[in-house]
Formats: sequence, C-alpha cells, structure tokens
Amino acid sequence: MAVRKLAPPELQPASFDFTSENEAFAEREIAKYPPGRQASAVIALLGRAQEQCGGWLPQKAIEAVADRLGMAPIRVMEVATFYTMFNLDPVGRYFVQFCGTTPCALRGAGEIKKVLERRIGAERHISSDGLFSWLEVECLGACCNAPMVQINDDYYEDLTPENFEKLLDDLAAGRPVKPGSQIGRRSSEPEGAVNTLQDPALFDGSLVGAWRKRFEEEALKVVTDEAATEVASLPEESKAAKPPAGRAIESDAADTPAKRAKEGETPVRASEQKRASSRSRATASKSKKTDEPVSPPQSGKSYVATPSDPAEGRAVSKSATTPVAGTPPSEGGKRDGSESKPDVPVKENKTP
Ligand code: FES
Repeated sequence: MAVRKLAPPELQPASFDFTSENEAFAEREIAKYPPGRQASAVIALLGRAQEQCGGWLPQKAIEAVADRLGMAPIRVMEVATFYTMFNLDPVGRYFVQFCGTTPCALRGAGEIKKVLERRIGAERHISSDGLFSWLEVECLGACCNAPMVQINDDYYEDLTPENFEKLLDDLAAGRPVKPGSQIGRRSSEPEGAVNTLQDPALFDGSLVGAWRKRFEEEALKVVTDEAATEVASLPEESKAAKPPAGRAIESDAADTPAKRAKEGETPVRASEQKRASSRSRATASKSKKTDEPVSPPQSGKSYVATPSDPAEGRAVSKSATTPVAGTPPSEGGKRDGSESKPDVPVKENKTP
C-alpha cells in the first residue's frame, strides 16, 4: 500500500466551507448521536466533504470537519489517512479503482490494466483532459464477475479489453453507460444458460414450510432406524431378560434336586451330600455327568487353603499367634513380626 499523505501545498485550496445543503446534512448526521458523541459523525462528514471537493480531501476540508465536530485536527487526519476510500490527492472526474487481486488477475485483469496504462497513463495520474485517473486496489468483493473495476460509485464487471475500451469511450463522450456486468448477465447468475432454480414452485409459495416437514420426517426415520439397530445388536439373553410389562418370567434359578430330577439325573442322596461336605474331601468332586471323581493335582496333595487338623498331615504352628484376652504381652509370645520367621542359628562374629 502506498504511503498516505496529504497532497502537496500547491494543490491545496486556500479554504473550505460546507455548502448550505451539506451543512444541513452535517446537522442531521450530528443529531443522530447523543451530546458529547458528535465525533461519531466523522466518517459521514468526511465523505460529504470529499464529494464537495470533487473526489478528494484537501487539508482545509479535514480541518473544517474537525472544527465542526469539536475534534482535534490530528484525530480527523488519522481517520482520513487510515481509510482508503478517502483520497488525499486530486482525482479525475472518473476515478477508476482497478481490482488487481488474484481472482480478477486469473480472469484477465492484467489486460484491463494495460488498457488503463495506455488510455490514462500511470497510476495516480490524471489524464490530460482531466477526465480519468486510476488506482489499483485490493478485492472489491465482486470476484464472481471478475475482472472488474469501480468507477466513482459504480461497479463494472465481466470486463474484456474490448468492452472496457468502449466503456471508457462512452464515459469520455458523455454517453450513458450501464453499471454491472458488461456481457449481459444478471447479477452473478451463471454465464450463458441459467440451469438452476428454475422450478416455478420455488417462487409461488407452495413450498413454504415443506423443508421443515421433510426435515422432521427424515429425523424421525433416523431415530427409528437407530432404535431398530440397537435392538438387533442385543444378545439373545438380554432380549429374553426383558419381561413383558409387569409379568414375571418362570425360569430355573439354580441347580436344585428338583431340577436334576426333571432333567433325568439321579438326585443326590443325603449320605453322599454329607461325604461331599467333609473337609477331607473338599477338593474331590464328582463329574456331574459321568460320576467319575475328578483327578487330584499331580503332587497328590490337597490344596485346601486353611489347615486345621494335624491328623491330616499338615503342620500346625506350636506357638500361638493369637494372644488370649487379658494375657500380658510378655506371656503372649512375640508380636513384632519375627514369630513368622524361621529360627536360624546365629553365627559367632569372629574378628581376626
Ligand atoms: S478479486 Fe477482484 S473483485 Fe475480488
């Protein structure tokens, strides 16, 4: 971006005053804001001052706006030099803002720039007849109809070197020109045949609310499908476990003698039950189907967890680890944890 500074002194007018019409405009703009907030009207007043000066802002106009709004001149100068819509140098009667950003460049803006340079001259230069000047700017937001230029307040789009030359000729000759697309398309419709949005129902109101009905139907279908998928993915038992509303389900709850009799098995006799519950046979269980005893572990030893009877061949500690209530600590054996350690003979410490 070029450095934005005021035009040289020789181009600056000696004074500036709003016309009566523009003074009334300023009054209306200032009245839109509460007392003490008149500075909010600075953009509107600078814009009107630029119009009055033929498209640019002299220093005297900036100072007049500052005076009108009770602002320091430097504050208004900051606004005027910040926004590129304010021109700080004189411009031609037709001020061409040429878009050189990528979409326009890809669509032939380079050729349009050559026309500008040939017809008007260098950038920021006013043509000898005072009619034209031009400036390259960034995207003006009409990329869909690129390449394009803005001339004063209007956009001219879909430019080619030929139609742009003709446009400049018409402006120079004072002939009427048509803003917008220069190839006849309306707004940014597709170039050539219009192939979309042609259903008359789109425009007669008959589809009002139809989209909502369709969305609701589709949402309902999605919910139903998800619920069906969820049920289908459940295991069989889970499905069976769901009782029909309020009714109990009859099922065999446990391995009971009645159940075994029902399945054709021999009920367990009372004597066998007693033997099976004996501690010495705690790990010897019978196969349910074959009546064969289960093989013991290869070591032949029982893996019952808690030995309690020396007669069964398991060693029982002679020292009582649980003191009798009321027994003094000295008579209750050691309680420091060493009672579980094996007695190891203590070697004598022989020093050489
Ligand atoms: S790039 Fe030119 S108008 Fe957007």
